[in-house]
Parts: sequence; C-alpha cells; structure tokens
Amino acid sequence: MDFTTKLRALVSQVEQGLERLVPPADTRPVLLHRAMRYSLESGGKRIRPVIVLAVAELFDPSGGRDPLPAAVALECLHTYSLIHDDLPCMDDDDLRRGRPTVHKAFDEATALLAGDALLTHALGLMVSAYAEDPALAVALTRDLADAAGSRRLIGGQVEDLAAEGRTDVPASDLEFIHLNKTAALLEASFSLGARIGGASDHDRSLVVGVGRDLGLAFQIVDDVLDATAESATLGKTAGKDAKSGKTTYVSVFGVEGARLRARAHSDAARDALRTLPGDITFLTELVEALTVRKK
Ligand code: IPE
Ligand code: IPE
Ligand code: MG
Ligand code: MG
Ligand code: MG
Repeated sequence: MDFTTKLRALVSQVEQGLERLVPPADTRPVLLHRAMRYSLESGGKRIRPVIVLAVAELFDPSGGRDPLPAAVALECLHTYSLIHDDLPCMDDDDLRRGRPTVHKAFDEATALLAGDALLTHALGLMVSAYAEDPALAVALTRDLADAAGSRRLIGGQVEDLAAEGRTDVPASDLEFIHLNKTAALLEASFSLGARIGGASDHDRSLVVGVGRDLGLAFQIVDDVLDATAESATLGKTAGKDAKSGKTTYVSVFGVEGARLRARAHSDAARDALRTLPGDITFLTELVEALTVRKK
C-alpha cells in the first residue's frame, strides 16, 4: 500500500472511531454535545491518532490489542487544547479547521465547557477501554495525563502566553515552549502506540524520542506556515503570530533559520526510526510529509 492510501485508511479508521466513541450530538445537554462534535468533526489532520495506530502496528502487526480507543482519546484531548487555545483570553482566534472557532459558532462558555468535557472524556475513555488489562490502562492514562498536565502541554501554553510581546526570549525558553505545548502530545502518540503494541521499554523510549523531534519540527513548521501561508489553505488565521507579538522560531531565527531547524529535527526523527525493528516505511514517510506540509 502506498503512503497516501495507507494514510487515508488510517484517518478513516480514526473518523469512524470518533463517531462511535464520543457521545452523540443529541445527548443532553444537546448544545454541549453539539459543540464537542462540531470541533471534532471539522476535520483536522488527525496526525496524533494516526501515529498511535501506526506505532501499535509497527510493534504488533497482527493487532492483538485495539489501539483505536487510545487514538480517539488523544484526538479528543488535542481538540480540547485547540478549543481553549483559540479562546479570547488565549490566542483569540476566529478560524479553526476551516470553520469559525467554537466560541464564535457557539459562545465562550460553551467553548470552555466543550473543551473541559473533551478532556475528561479522553481520560475516561482511556481507562474504560483498556480496563481488562489494568496495568496497561493505568500506563496509558498516566501517559496521557502527564503529557496534558501542568509540566507539559499546559506549562508550555502558560510560557507561550508569557512570552507574548517580549523580544528578549532566549532560544532555550522557546524550545521549552515547543517541547511542551506541542511535542508532549506527539511523544504521547508514540508512547501509547508502543505500549499497546507491546514494545520493550527500550524501544518505547526510542520512539518517544522520535516524537520529541517530530514535535519540535512540527511546531517550527506551524510557525513558518503562520508567517508564509494563506488562511484559506491553513484553515486558521495566517499572520496571527506576528500580529499578536508571539515569540516563535520565525521571530527569533527568521523563516530560513526556522526551516533549517525544522529540517534538523525531522532528520533526527527519521534517523532514530531507522534503529527500530519492523517496517518503518510509513512512519518515515509521515515524518517527511509533516515537515514539507502546506497546512
Ligand atoms: C495545531 O495542531 C496545533 C499545533 C500543535 C501546531 P494540528 O496542526 O495537528 O491541528 P489539526 O488537528 O490538524 O487541526
Ligand atoms: C499550539 O500552538 C499549541 C496548542 C494548541 C496546545 P499554536 O497557538 O501555535 O497553535 P495554532 O497555530 O493556534 O494551531
Ligand atoms: Mg497558542
Ligand atoms: Mg493558537
Ligand atoms: Mg501556530
């Protein structure tokens, strides 16, 4: 199967999983469940859940345990982080995944609560879907909670906001921000897939390292696209970082400097993949596709 066909197949599995494992839009209170599904169903690249599925398959091609609930949980958590990231008190964005943001399409309180509900749903789904293997359920839930917690995703978001409007942010602080607001969930994608696929501790820590480099490359490319692409292509407001005075790889190193750094992290991720057992073709091509992506 070629890369594009395989990617489409995995994205389609994720979409079906989201449909099945998230409460229906007519669940009471309807407004809340509509808002949760509105953001989930607006599309998105589904990179994190696709990685969960692909990494589980890498370590266990026969598919002993089902990675889909973990993949869906991670996408719910990621989507919550986007809904909150767009709120007026954070990045104040009107456009996401090609549609008005949740607080624009609904209202601010509903957006806040839809985010809360998606976060809680993610943790609950993880625990209940793997309850027959309690050690696995605990490890997966721990991974997700750690990645989403105050030392990682939230910590990165806090420092990202604190760096806004400052011109003296050291590169090490910028790396802290990217490592946590973005790479944490990418690392978690690899870790969840590795645990479900039964990888050894050694191989799991290796793929978590791949997630770290991919995460850093991914956020640098996001910064470059914000500065160079069109809103219509991105499905979110282009040029927003400069307008808000965000500290980004582009503001610190320029577009070319940022591109070089993204390339270095992407190469490091692919080199690390090469040391793994199994068929790494899809993951290697995925890392490259995300590095040269246009949205
Ligand atoms: C957006 O993530 C937030 C960042 C970490 C840059 P994605 O670029 O994966 O967003 P979707 O899920 O495709 O909308
Ligand atoms: C992404 O940072 C981090 C999270 C959403 C957690 P950005 O603020 O750059 O993401 P976009 O550009 O709004 O997607
Ligand atoms: Mg932000
Ligand atoms: Mg933002
Ligand atoms: Mg951005």
